[in-house]
Amino acid sequence: MDKIRIKGGNRLKGEVQVSGAKNAALPVLAATLLGSGEQRISNIPDLRDVLTIKRLLTHLGAEIEADGQNWTVRMSALKQCEAPYELVKTMRASVLVLGPLTARFGEAKVSLPGGCAIGARPINLHLAGLEKMGAEIKIEHGYVSIKANRLQGARIYLDLPSVTATENLMMAATLADGVTVIENAAREPEVTDLAQFLNRCGARIRGFGTDVITIEGVDSIDGATKFGIMPDRIEAGTYLTAAAVTRGDIFIRGCNPRHLDAVLLKLREIGVAIGEDPDGVRATGTARIGPADITTLPYPGFPTDMQAQFMALLSLCEGSSVITETVFENRLTHVAELRRMGADINIQGNTAIIKGVRRLSGAPVMASDLRASACLVLAGLAAEGETEISRVYHLDRGYEHLEKKFSNLGGEVTRMKQNS
Ligand code: EPU
Repeated sequence: MDKIRIKGGNRLKGEVQVSGAKNAALPVLAATLLGSGEQRISNIPDLRDVLTIKRLLTHLGAEIEADGQNWTVRMSALKQCEAPYELVKTMRASVLVLGPLTARFGEAKVSLPGGCAIGARPINLHLAGLEKMGAEIKIEHGYVSIKANRLQGARIYLDLPSVTATENLMMAATLADGVTVIENAAREPEVTDLAQFLNRCGARIRGFGTDVITIEGVDSIDGATKFGIMPDRIEAGTYLTAAAVTRGDIFIRGCNPRHLDAVLLKLREIGVAIGEDPDGVRATGTARIGPADITTLPYPGFPTDMQAQFMALLSLCEGSSVITETVFENRLTHVAELRRMGADINIQGNTAIIKGVRRLSGAPVMASDLRASACLVLAGLAAEGETEISRVYHLDRGYEHLEKKFSNLGGEVTRMKQNS
C-alpha cells in the first residue's frame, strides 16, 4: 500500500489545470446504460472511482473504449443485472446503476451499501422514489432487487435533497411512461451536468439547477456525439485552499467560479485575495488569515466536501472559528489527526471549535475518507517538517495526479511504498 510523504513549509505558486469532476463523471457514465447508441464522453478524470464504475459497466455488458480522458461507451445488451458486493463496497456511487437498469431493462440487483466512514448513508430515498414509479423492491441477503415492467411517471418529494437519489430518479424517469416531478431535488452542479447529458441524448428534463425537476419520459434515447464532463469544483476548491494555507499564489485554470461561490465568499472573508477571470480563479494567501464560521449545507450552501480542507486552513488562522457539519453525521474524523499535528480543535456533537495556532508540525497521520485525506495533505504542506499520510487509496479515488500537481506548484510531495 502506498503512502505520501510531504515536506512542509513551501509557499505554493503557479498554475494548475482542474480535472473533470468525479461526481459528474460517475452519474454520466451510469446514464450510458439508458441508451443503445454510442456515447462519446470527454474530460473523464483518471481516478480509482472512475475505474470502479468502468469495471461495473463492463460487468453489466457495456463495451467501453477508453482513450485517456475520452471514452466511447455502448450498451447494446444486458449481460448481467447485478452490481456485486465487491464493487459496491469500494464505491457507494455504484448504486447509480439502479435507476437506469430498472428503467431500460426492467430489473436491477445491487448490493446494499453499508454505512461508511462519514455516516450511515442509507438509500431509502432512492428506493421510495422508484417504488412510487411502480417498481417492486425486495431486500434479501444484503441485496436490493428491483423489478418493473415500465416505470410510470410520478410526483416524488425527497425528504432530503440527496444528490445521488435525485440523479438515480432523474435517470429512471427519463424512460418512464408520463411525467415525473422531483420536488426538493438536489441543486448541485453535478445534477445539472447529468441532466444536460441526458437532454443531449434526447431526454426531456427541465428545472434542473432548481429544487423542482420535471422529466417527461421518452421511449428511448440516442447516443451523445460528444459531451464534456464539467470541471471538478471540489478539486478546484482544494487547490484554492492550498494557496491560502501555504500563503501562496495559485491560478486554477478551467474551474467555474460560479460553482464555488460559497467557498470563494469564505476565502475572501478570511483575507484571501481572489481574482476571477474567464479562464479560472486565482487565490493569493496573506500572512494573516482571519477566522470564519462555517455550516455545511446542500448546494448552493458551503459544500460538505470542502469542510475538512477548511478545517486545516482555519487551524492556522488568527482567532477562533466554528465549523458545523450538517450533511453527514460522522464527518469530523480528521480532527483527531489534525490535533496530532498541533491543531487546537474541540468537538461538540457535529460542531468543531477551532482556536487558530501559529504553526502545525509534521507527523505520521492516517485518514478514513477522501476529503479527510485532502485535509491532511493541506495541513502537511503548511506544517513544519515531514508528514506521512497512509491509506493513499482514499486520495486516488478523487484527486487526479495529486503529487504531480502539487509538485508543479512547488510542494514537496512524494509517493512511496508503505514499508519504505
Ligand atoms: N440520505 C438519506 N437517504 C437517502 C440518501 C441520502 O438519508 O436515500 C442522507 C445521507 O445519509 C446524507 C444526506 O442525505 O446524510 C445527503 O447525502 P446525499 O445522498 O446527498 O449524498 P450522496 O449522493 O451519497 C454525493 C457525493 C458526495 C457528497 C454528497 C453531498 C457523489 C458520488 N457523491 O453523495 O461526495 O459528499 O453528495 O454533497 O456524488 C466525495 O466526493 O467525497 C463525496 C462523499
